[in-house]
Amino acid sequence: MTLPKSARSAINKIYFDQNAFTYEEDAVDFNFQTPEFVSKDILELLADKTDIAIYETGIGTGLLYKTFMKNKSPAQRIQYYGCDLADNMLGLASKVLPQDHLHRVDIDYDTLPMKDSSVDATVSTSVFQFLDNPDFAVGEMARITKPGGYIAIAAVSVCKHESWLSALRHKIGRLFSNEPAYRETLISAEHMQEIFEKHNLHVLKNIIKFSHSHWQAHNYDCYIIGKKPSNT
Ligand SMILES: C[S@@+](CC[C@H](N)C(=O)[O-])C[C@H]1O[C@@H](n2cnc3c(N)ncnc32)[C@H](O)[C@@H]1O
Repeated sequence: MTLPKSARSAINKIYFDQNAFTYEEDAVDFNFQTPEFVSKDILELLADKTDIAIYETGIGTGLLYKTFMKNKSPAQRIQYYGCDLADNMLGLASKVLPQDHLHRVDIDYDTLPMKDSSVDATVSTSVFQFLDNPDFAVGEMARITKPGGYIAIAAVSVCKHESWLSALRHKIGRLFSNEPAYRETLISAEHMQEIFEKHNLHVLKNIIKFSHSHWQAHNYDCYIIGKKPSNT
């Protein structure tokens, strides 16, 4: 069994273990858009394939998997795998996916338990803002992706309050909330571009897109899709 490898992972694991059981309700309340646009884009890029293997890093409760299943064409069959740090998240994901498709992994430090070039796409939504080592995590995602396959990552990049009053409410609300703290760092599109290029991924898209609203703040993702060259 893998344990969190840093104080940051340990803090984030506590937060997500505690919030796992309300996570999907919160996603509706927060108007969480990311699974919808990531699944649609990847399914479109893989439209000529009927048997598709996908690996998700930071799978949570399996919300993105369910969105893939809702959006796929009747002809598309999906083998889905994923990992997470939080046991309660993995417990909920195991209600919709086979247990042996789920792995307990700290993607900041651990290699993914998958062979090189074994999946058509690797995806990650709303996770990279929690990492210390995004470069290592992208390297692993690139390793397990087949040549010609895709890597899609969306993570919070911009957090905008409508006014100073909502920003103040946010700060005060967090102080008196009984939620555990979590540690996130806003992701920069330039940094993700550099990381993708370093791993020899051809960047097809790198945009900022509305993700969700949380604690009176509107969050926008850095949304990047890369293609692994066919000749590697
Ligand atoms: C905001 S949730 C997103 C879940 C899912 N991707 C979705 O879109 O619904 C973030 C997830 O990342 C996981 N996570 C955070 N840091 C992680 C790490 N270092 N390694 C693996 N998973 C991590 C959390 O446990 C949590 O399930």
